[in-house]
Amino acid sequence: MAEFTLPKNSRITGKGRVHKAPAGAQRVKSFKIYRYDPDTGENPRYDTFEIDLDDCGPMVLDALIKIKAEHDPSLTFRRSCREGICGSCSMNMDGKNGLACTTAIEDIKGELRITPLPAMDVIKDLVPDFTHFYAQYASVKPWLQTVTPPPAGKERLQSPEDRAKLDGLYECILCACCSTSCPSYWWNSDKFLGPAILLQAYRFLADSRDEMTGERLDELEDPFRLYRCHTIMNCANACPKGLSPAKAIAEIKKMEVERII
Ligand code: SF4
Ligand code: SF4
Ligand code: FES
Repeated sequence: MAEFTLPKNSRITGKGRVHKAPAGAQRVKSFKIYRYDPDTGENPRYDTFEIDLDDCGPMVLDALIKIKAEHDPSLTFRRSCREGICGSCSMNMDGKNGLACTTAIEDIKGELRITPLPAMDVIKDLVPDFTHFYAQYASVKPWLQTVTPPPAGKERLQSPEDRAKLDGLYECILCACCSTSCPSYWWNSDKFLGPAILLQAYRFLADSRDEMTGERLDELEDPFRLYRCHTIMNCANACPKGLSPAKAIAEIKKMEVERII
């Protein structure tokens, strides 16, 4: 279970502002939102926005868009597709990581607290810094690597059975909900690759067309990069796409063992 954890290096000491619901609103919901703007030099704070749910879309992202449009244009968050495809609206809602665009407001009772993904540096408000996460992604060389030339005039083919081995892997949208809910990643993210990146690493290990399996396994065989996963399983609970990074990690560990016996 992903517990609520503050963003990295955060202390909430600033005094929050309250934005009241319009007079006559019948179904009012409070959104308590983490605010941090490094340009002001002020400490982080929570602002409260009271929203009339009769005049708002059903998802948490709808409320954030409404708040930005009608209450405070300085509220900063990422979003793009609005349908769980781009992965950019990942954040922590009521103590659980998820996508704001696919999380229904109705499913969260009482005041709804929203913070950036845990244990990452914050750029502003709900926007975490993904620089390190993307560098780790690049480190596993997330592309097909081959040695043999492709068949003349043809693409590299794959049997339906081999293609099916990528199911549960290719759907990853790199939202980082899993990695930022993993206690091992909170403590060792400088060296541990974390569940999202290891799932991506396995996506290429599992691809029948890739010809760098040995090199990929060599790169991963490390007490920190791979073996800091202690099978706590928060990652599988957190994934908004229903994937299981823990299973992918177990498969990598199995491949590491099988090649030495
Ligand atoms: S199973 Fe491994 S990667 Fe997933 S949350 Fe647990 S320690 Fe982290
Ligand atoms: S495995 Fe799931 S939670 Fe993790 S990055 Fe991919 S889509 Fe997001
Ligand atoms: S806006 Fe693209 S996943 Fe939420």
